[in-house]
Amino acid sequence: MEAPQNISSGLVVRTAREDDLERLVTIHSDAFPDARGREARRRNFVDNPRGTLDDLFVAEADGALLGHAFLFSMASWMGGREVAMSGMASVAVAPEARGQGVATALVRRLVAETRHRGQVACLLYPFRHAFYRRLGWGLVSEVRRLRLAPSSFPAYPDDARPRAARPEDLAALRRCYQRVASRGNGLLARSDRLWRTFLGTEGRHLFVVGAHGHEVSGYVMIACTAPNGGPAELDVVELVADDDHARRTLYGFLRAQRDQIATVRYLVAARDPLLAVLDEPRTPQGETVRTLVAVAGEWGAAHMARVVDVGGAVSARGYAADGQITLRVTEPLVPQGRVAGTLLVRSGTGSFGPERGGPILACDIGTFTQIWSGYLKPTDAVHLGVAAVDAPRTAALADALFALPSPHTLDYF
Ligand SMILES: CC(C)(COP(=O)(O)OP(=O)(O)OC[C@H]1O[C@@H](n2cnc3c(N)ncnc32)[C@H](O)[C@@H]1OP(=O)(O)O)[C@@H](O)C(=O)NCCC(=O)NCCS
Repeated sequence: MEAPQNISSGLVVRTAREDDLERLVTIHSDAFPDARGREARRRNFVDNPRGTLDDLFVAEADGALLGHAFLFSMASWMGGREVAMSGMASVAVAPEARGQGVATALVRRLVAETRHRGQVACLLYPFRHAFYRRLGWGLVSEVRRLRLAPSSFPAYPDDARPRAARPEDLAALRRCYQRVASRGNGLLARSDRLWRTFLGTEGRHLFVVGAHGHEVSGYVMIACTAPNGGPAELDVVELVADDDHARRTLYGFLRAQRDQIATVRYLVAARDPLLAVLDEPRTPQGETVRTLVAVAGEWGAAHMARVVDVGGAVSARGYAADGQITLRVTEPLVPQGRVAGTLLVRSGTGSFGPERGGPILACDIGTFTQIWSGYLKPTDAVHLGVAAVDAPRTAALADALFALPSPHTLDYF
């Protein structure tokens, strides 16, 4: 990173060193008071599958460490392109330093660091939405956690079954993920190390679709529990299908667990079409809303994103349509307070240059991020009063230009 920088009132943000670790483990324990001991927390810092100590940043004032945050390097697929991003995690401030702007300063510094690394956006799972909204992030993904009886999953006549994975399937399984990721919006590129962690976690079982020695066309990772000795529950840790046959086979596999499993818990994208074909889209517990509407699980606001470089971001993603639009984006973190220019998309590739007139879309950076990601349609942003256009047809043009499926990731960090 660049030389440490004074932010305000003597606060310095720098990368962590070995001799910071004792104090950082204490800050981490106070911030995330769960069952993990000091050694597990130390390992989280020095042996993290997503990064190294060079990705851990600390906030320091008068020689005292006050907070820490990870900034991982990652890449997310968007419209057929791998886009370089950062992922922020483990933001924590010592109890005695809270409410004085330490986390705000740390996060601002990491936005600058993201840009410095040449990454165009920063992703995170927020502890509090409004905190990050104020700093330019916007919600970009929604999930549903389905809670269903296995028999709710659709049955398909060919009754194919996946088979238990063997070590020699893993390279093909990774290729399967890669093919699916490169077609979709939001899945993250995964390193060898991440795959090893994902596959090596105890208590999980992996099943694949595809004849032995051939390509894998889909897989499901599951974990089964019986809380308090009660009925067994099955968690779908990850389900990836590269074609229709694999998808149907994996749904059939979940359905086939109906004699042993009371409830399947499965986190899907909020608009996953699976919802349309469930036999019984309601929880086995029979909960209702206003007595008439059956509950099928929960809705969740998932990750937020913040574009840190408007020109870089619009040039990095892929597009399904060509066109031209002038963007005026309020961006408090640049000296002028806004970024303006014209996006030109030709043959699915975007380039950003000085304003050349034409239709205009204006919004704040958080809303822009939501539009850029494919999560929010410009038309809806205008209806909600968070974006403005020069003429009504500009909103429709922007809808077509920025259209992508809503982002969905399978990584939680
Ligand atoms: C969440 C956490 C990191 C926030 O750190 P913090 O340094 O207290 O955060 P800040 O001081 O920058 O901001 C907190 C609030 O105080 C306000 N604030 C900042 N400086 C202030 C000041 N001088 N006077 C009054 N209020 C101030 C901020 O505006 C913010 O409020 P808002 O979001 O409603 O606008 C900290 O409470 C923590 O470590 N919590 C436990 C761990 C956790 O949940 N981490 C996040 C999960 S990754």
